[in-house]
Amino acid sequence: MTMRSLFSNHSHYVETFQVFLKKSTEHQCMLDFIHKKLPQLISSCPELVESISNGKTEINVLSVGGGSGEIDLEILARLQSEYPGVIIHTDVIEPNAEQINSYKECVAKASDLKNIKFTWHKETSLEYENRIKDSKEMGKWNFIHMIQMLYYVKDMPATIRFFHGLLKPGAKLLIILVSGRSSWAKLWRKYGPRLPPNDLCLYISSADVEEMLDGSGLKYQSYELLSDMDITDCFTEGSKTGELLLDFLTETCNFSNTAPLDLKNELIEDLKKPEYSERRGDKYFFNNTLNAIIIEH
Ligand SMILES: C[S@@+](CC[C@H](N)C(=O)[O-])C[C@H]1O[C@@H](n2cnc3c(N)ncnc32)[C@H](O)[C@@H]1O
Repeated sequence: MTMRSLFSNHSHYVETFQVFLKKSTEHQCMLDFIHKKLPQLISSCPELVESISNGKTEINVLSVGGGSGEIDLEILARLQSEYPGVIIHTDVIEPNAEQINSYKECVAKASDLKNIKFTWHKETSLEYENRIKDSKEMGKWNFIHMIQMLYYVKDMPATIRFFHGLLKPGAKLLIILVSGRSSWAKLWRKYGPRLPPNDLCLYISSADVEEMLDGSGLKYQSYELLSDMDITDCFTEGSKTGELLLDFLTETCNFSNTAPLDLKNELIEDLKKPEYSERRGDKYFFNNTLNAIIIEH
């Protein structure tokens, strides 16, 4: 059997992602950042503070790759509590129809979103870019975020430059990606060339974004969000959870049964090493640290 990219089977990808969320502190560390740090970063935007204190009652938020909306809704709830009474117009760019449906279900279930108006765009960031460039509707956003999505664009620097250009003066663009110091970056460096090729996902980390920003002159701040993932099940032969985690780690469908034995053994041995995982008792925790990068207009 040949190895196939995880992205060739969307429902399998979603299944692995759900196991990853259950076994990692991915969402907890984002929520921590959203609740403790984000409000002060956004409210330090002079244009926003000035317009709200001048009686303006609307702000515009753009979510790029919003997925099924869990993190977006946390951000919006936080903004709503920061700016009570202000209408928050939220546009969501998301190419996957199933994700948009899940997002709409989350909105329907949430009880306190009455001041938030949603518009979903079923398209990629590039399709949105081409459409908006044609319509010349630029410079209207008070806050834009791209959370765990820049892996999926063809041209990361051009995408950042385009969305940065849509911000109002003083507004902020938030990017969250795996940290260059995480085990993801090490795993991709070593094993990327031996895993199934796909043109849908770039092996990029926050280090690549920071390098691009350093060369571009854009001003930014970077925050480390500590996170880990319990990968102990990967070391139990036949464990379904372990197999799904291995698929997620290697971005491969059914890695355990399709990878050449030498590759599988080497990778599993590496995952136990301290460069990749911290051992606590009989458990192994993979370093899933993220970086939040805030770029100012
Ligand atoms: C890992 S998920 C992150 C979802 C959400 N932001 C979160 O953190 O929970 C990445 C999302 O980006 C979307 N995506 C993939 N390629 C994209 C593209 N070219 N433009 C915009 N979104 C994209 C996927 O459909 C998916 O919903």
